Amino acid sequence: MDIRQATIDDLLGMQNANLLNLPENYTFKYYLYHALTWPELSFVAVDPRGRIVGYILAKMDEDSTDEVIGHVTSISVLRPYRRLGLANKLMKQSQEAMVAHYKASKITLHVRKSNRAAISLYRDTLGFEVFTMEKGYYADNEDAYGMRYIFPQAS
Ligand code: ACO
Repeated sequence: MDIRQATIDDLLGMQNANLLNLPENYTFKYYLYHALTWPELSFVAVDPRGRIVGYILAKMDEDSTDEVIGHVTSISVLRPYRRLGLANKLMKQSQEAMVAHYKASKITLHVRKSNRAAISLYRDTLGFEVFTMEKGYYADNEDAYGMRYIFPQAS
């Protein structure tokens, strides 16, 4: 499986994977906004025939004034391709790009409290920590953990 930077041509495939994998969905315009504004930060995993089997959609935090913070809007991997290390690789590529292109000092994301797989990926594999809990964050009222990773060179 190849991991490469996402292009405009990949956005429909990313949106399709997102619709299959997660209840948090976005308009095509929002994908386009990511790709045009932060083209270095989103990546796709593709199979040998070029089909998108995983993606990370990432951005820089536009509200933060005192710190440069990267943010993962969404990451997912199609079911048959899970536990192959793809999400780990997608996250690492995006993290590297956040530091290289924007000098990010940390990265944040939201995750459902019940999402054991994703929490394990973030906390146990990638070294994120929970820094906040947002009650009723999701449309169905589930709580979210706010998680963050502080880049070692920034601490
Ligand atoms: N149960 C427990 N731990 C898990 C699981 C699981 N099902 N999946 C991954 N992990 C942990 C393990 O520590 C794993 O390492 P190991 O396989 O050596 O034990 C580590 O994460 C790395 O796993 P990857 O293979 O890189 O993860 P994968 O490619 O399978 O993708 C993901 C993980 C993205 C959570 C996938 O399960 C998925 O797409 N789920 C549905 C969508 C989703 O929940 N996305 C995250 C929403 S939050 C957000 O987008 C900001």
